[in-house]
Amino acid sequence: MQQKPHFMNFTVDHMTMLFHPKLYTIAYVVFRVIFGASPDDILYEKRRPGKNGEKDTSMTFATRVGTWEAKEKDPLPTIFALVQPSEPVGQPSHVRTMLDGHDQTTHLQHVALRTPDLISFHRHCMERGVQFVTPILKDDHENLIQVFSGEWFLPGGKSSGFFFEFVQRDPSNDELAVIQKQNKQSWFRDETFLGLYDEKEREYQSGKVRPFLSDELFNAIISYVGSKQVYEITEDDLAHIEKMMLEMTAQTKKA
Ligand SMILES: [Fe+2]
Repeated sequence: MQQKPHFMNFTVDHMTMLFHPKLYTIAYVVFRVIFGASPDDILYEKRRPGKNGEKDTSMTFATRVGTWEAKEKDPLPTIFALVQPSEPVGQPSHVRTMLDGHDQTTHLQHVALRTPDLISFHRHCMERGVQFVTPILKDDHENLIQVFSGEWFLPGGKSSGFFFEFVQRDPSNDELAVIQKQNKQSWFRDETFLGLYDEKEREYQSGKVRPFLSDELFNAIISYVGSKQVYEITEDDLAHIEKMMLEMTAQTKKA
């Protein structure tokens, strides 16, 4: 195949997402606590000036979630995956529902973030109450392991159709063994193991879409933050929220 010109060699620079104010605040907390963004990683935070002495409203912020350092030669490909509803009309299709349900002809369904250590990141998430739709899966075609989070939406609200995937490429044999062991346990808990597509279809048909954080945890964070804008959330607040996440999650596991 002919080599394509240099100017057609792309990498993703950033992604811009529009968020409901409550989700905007939760997203800030999640980027700081779950994705580990430091104050330095908040690249900017811009505000709409408040009128009549009212405080400013945060308009936008950007956060860096990583600066990839390849251990060895790594092409770090940039990939788009496209999906269309392929089920015949009249047959349930979560892909169609995600589009039609939001009056959309296109929809960013998930962002896949690559980590050098998926098992550790997954554990970090689980301890803090992040919910996943699947256990860590081994991709059949590629040498990668992946896990899919719940969707970002408001408690009791309509699912947004947006979630995260976390991937690790070229896992070691030891890491694969750990995953196999974990999957066996969930296999017994739920005898029908399904891939992402079937799992999402099942969620959408049942009407029970798993959120990124439980409603309880989401509401607890929002009520702790109160009327604070993201720029008013302090490092102490974040430490308190993280503690809350750990404690509420430990409690739920005990119950
Ligand atoms: Fe994906």
